[in-house]
Amino acid sequence: MDKPRVVLGVGGGIAAYKACELLRRLTESGHEVHVIPTDSALRFVGEPTWSALSGNPVATEVWERAHEVPHVRLGRRADLLVIAPATADLLARAATGRADDLLTNTLLTVRCPVVFAPAMHTEMWEHPATRENVATLRRRGALVVDPAVGRLTGADSGAGRLPEPDALFEVCRRVLARGTAGLPLDLAGRHVVISAGGTREPLDPVRFLGNHSSGKQGYALARTALARGARVTLVAANAALPDPAGAEVVRVVTAEDMRQAMTKASAEADAVVMAAAVADFRPAARSDIKIKKRDGQDPDPIALVRNPDILAELSAARPVGQVVVGFAAETHDVLAQGRVKLARKGCDLLVVNQVGEGRAFGTEENEAVILEAGGGETPVPRGPKEALADRIWDAVVRRREAAGRN
Ligand code: CTP
Repeated sequence: MDKPRVVLGVGGGIAAYKACELLRRLTESGHEVHVIPTDSALRFVGEPTWSALSGNPVATEVWERAHEVPHVRLGRRADLLVIAPATADLLARAATGRADDLLTNTLLTVRCPVVFAPAMHTEMWEHPATRENVATLRRRGALVVDPAVGRLTGADSGAGRLPEPDALFEVCRRVLARGTAGLPLDLAGRHVVISAGGTREPLDPVRFLGNHSSGKQGYALARTALARGARVTLVAANAALPDPAGAEVVRVVTAEDMRQAMTKASAEADAVVMAAAVADFRPAARSDIKIKKRDGQDPDPIALVRNPDILAELSAARPVGQVVVGFAAETHDVLAQGRVKLARKGCDLLVVNQVGEGRAFGTEENEAVILEAGGGETPVPRGPKEALADRIWDAVVRRREAAGRN
């Protein structure tokens, strides 16, 4: 079988050095890679590095070997075009359809999925001009991964870092796998919001009421949505997992924090998935000092109060066309309980799984039934959490299509 063909476009940013590592990962895992650095990229990392690491000659100019029409040749044969780092200038040129160097020419000839991995200073990323360019590219079907938050060039830090090469490689691998299977980037241009993990409700500065949720299913939903082209906001409660490359990650602790973060992020989202295990109750009072045991005395009982039902609130407030998905873990009468919960919460889809016997919490696998408001029922056999995540996105896309919105 032919190797999958990747064109790696490199923009002129300091993060070009990280693209070398991405290139290595791609070639070592059996991809045929052609690198197109911009002129400014070559000021950071030179041509010999790109050709040695890719094992292919590096085209940098439309004028080189013009008889081969390089932009058309490279573009037509590509299974994936990934641009890392994508600078503010490169995003602007791509958004306006400029064709003033080999990379932007190639961008106009490719018909395969295109992934942009922007990297720049926070001010440039947040500038309205860049925001509009990114929105334009996403609307046209490109996958623009959000930059990571962290240390930038120099002493400052903020949003704008290129995600780590391993994580970018995973995004490329997933997008290529969908392409090979003939599956479209059917969430391109869509914004999805996912909650993950388990909330913690503090009793005092050192103790909390919590639960066993690992966050794995929510993170799998984030990774798979990204690979289908979505812009992803992940509201993560106390999960010790690596950030999915390209997602905006909002960290929260309590149910009340999660309610605020979800309400804000969901206002204009196309789909919202509540995969987090939210504590139904919290201690009525939180002690500012550590609660001490007292010799010879029984401990005080802990009074609890109800937390808001975030899923029910989001369902009630959802804008027209937004698909809201909930989860339910049940121990018995799973489908009947699920139907009741679907109606009570008012969401569009409810993913019901049976808990116990090593299922669900903390494991790598899951099995579930996806219940739909209005009657549909899709069983998903036991398998990796990413497989269930993809079936959930299939159901979300179907529902949006049925409403004439995808
Ligand atoms: N959920 C929520 N806010 C809460 C509790 C739960 O948004 N305060 C969401 C969960 O994220 C999940 C769904 O609701 O998507 C189902 O949660 P579950 O705890 O199973 O439902 P409950 O309403 O608590 O029902 P019960 O305790 O009766 O099983």
